[in-house]
Amino acid sequence: MTRKGIVLAGGTGSRLWPITLGVSKQLLPIYDKPMIYYPISVLMLAGIRDIAIITTPEDQPQFQRLLGDGRQWGLSFTWIVQEKPEGLAQAYLLARDFLAGAPSAMVLGDNIFFGHGLPEMLKRADQQPSGGTVFGYHVSDPERYGVAAFDAHGRVTQIVEKPKVPPSSFAITGLYFLDGRAPEIAARITPSLRGELEIVDVLEHYRAEGSLEVERMGRGFAWLDTGTPGSLLDAGNFVRTLQERQGMQVGSPDEVAFRQGWIDRAGMAERARLHGRGGYGAYLEAVLRE
Ligand code: G1P
Repeated sequence: MTRKGIVLAGGTGSRLWPITLGVSKQLLPIYDKPMIYYPISVLMLAGIRDIAIITTPEDQPQFQRLLGDGRQWGLSFTWIVQEKPEGLAQAYLLARDFLAGAPSAMVLGDNIFFGHGLPEMLKRADQQPSGGTVFGYHVSDPERYGVAAFDAHGRVTQIVEKPKVPPSSFAITGLYFLDGRAPEIAARITPSLRGELEIVDVLEHYRAEGSLEVERMGRGFAWLDTGTPGSLLDAGNFVRTLQERQGMQVGSPDEVAFRQGWIDRAGMAERARLHGRGGYGAYLEAVLRE
């Protein structure tokens, strides 16, 4: 079965209040694009076109205004509401009907990835016939994330959520390739002490049966944090620096759709026209002229 995508864009964004009191975190700008463009582009780079977007009930209309039904990028969006943020693993329960047994790639709507070789890495994860693939990224503050422990042979021995004493410096990023059993497994786990269905418990299930790959994203990759006002600004500046130096976009679903052949020249020209005189529209024009 073809892998389907999930973008989890619920949550209260309380760590960014008051910015996110009036607008969803995943709609905030990362330099010149809404945050959610970046994780959507990642799923697209993995070749995924059938995508569920999970939001709070209040924020859904705004996401729909921004993203529509996905046709503009050769995608199909299914809209799912998360009434209360009760953990990342809840997404698999909410998306159960949508997935209908298909393998999935779930990406958190506030996770931004950049790196040479990213498409190849994503395609490898997509091609794994069963089990799961997650990505480990070396950070200076692993206690803020899910963290992988490894044995002397580099095999993963445990995944723990926000450990006080991290067993390694490898955080598990918010991008999870799991097989068709994920909703079933999520249905069997119980809420943690903080009252949430934890993604790490789902991952631990796969790990315990020996079917979880932890791919390390090396130095050449950027996995950017957007959890604090400072890191949000840093992420924007990072994207700006790269884009201005290289004259290439990071996280443009329009460009990915065109390069994947999911929209044709006319479709791309229409997108460029729609964006008018702004820098983004001019960029799409330039891609068309290449
Ligand atoms: C969540 C996950 C954590 C993961 C992180 C990635 O944490 O629970 O395992 O490492 O996303 O962004 P949260 O950001 O919800 O605290």
